[in-house]
Amino acid sequence: MIESEKKLAAEAAARLAADGMRIGLGTGSTVAHLLPALAARGLDVRCVATSPATEAAARQLGIAVEPFEGIDRLELAIDGADQVARDGWLVKGGGGAHTREKIVAAAAERFVVIADSSKPVAEIEAPVPLELHSFGLAATLRELGAAELRDAPPSPDGGAIADYRGEVNEPERLAAWLASVPGVVEHGLFPPTLVSEVLIGHGSAVERIEV
Ligand code: 5RP
Repeated sequence: MIESEKKLAAEAAARLAADGMRIGLGTGSTVAHLLPALAARGLDVRCVATSPATEAAARQLGIAVEPFEGIDRLELAIDGADQVARDGWLVKGGGGAHTREKIVAAAAERFVVIADSSKPVAEIEAPVPLELHSFGLAATLRELGAAELRDAPPSPDGGAIADYRGEVNEPERLAAWLASVPGVVEHGLFPPTLVSEVLIGHGSAVERIEV
C-alpha cells in the first residue's frame, strides 16, 4: 500500500513537468517512482540531481542530468520527505542528502514534496538529520549535545551524517539554533517558506496541500 501511495504521488508530480523546464530531482524511495514517470513523459528538460544515486538512476532512464554549478534557477524541484507537518515544516535527510536537497529546493520556483500516508505528522519530532564538517567533528558533536553520528557513508561533499535527537518543540527555533552551531553544514528542517505544495498518496487518491 505504502509503495503504491508513493507511486501515485510521484506520478502526480511528474505531470507538473513541462518542456523546457529545469528540474531538481530529490533522493529516496519516493523519488525512485518519480524518475520512470518523468522519463516516460519524454519531455525536453534539463535536470539536476541531489545525490549520486539519483543521478545514476536518472541517467539510466535517459533523463539528462547536468552538474548544478552553472544553473542558477530551477522551475521545479520534486523530492520526498521523512515528516510533513500540516503547517508545511518538513524533516528531510533520511538518506543523508538534505544539504544538496535544501540547495535545490531553495533554487526552485516551485518545490513539490511527494509522500505516502505515513509521512504527515501532528508535530515535527526528532530525529533531525544533520550534516557536519569532519574538521572538528567531536567538538561539534559536543556542542550539539543530543546528536549521534549515523552509521552511514559521508555525504558526496565529505560531511559526516548525524541525527539530532533532542527536543524539537518549535521547529523554527531549533532550525535557527542548529544553523548557528559552527561545524553544522546543514540540518534537515525545511521551513514552509521553501515548500510550494505537498502531494500525499492516500490509498488510491492523492491529496494536494498548498503551503
Ligand atoms: C533523503 C531524503 C528523502 O527525501 C527522505 O528520506 C524520504 O525518503 P523516502 O522517499 O525513501 O521515504 O530526505 O535525504
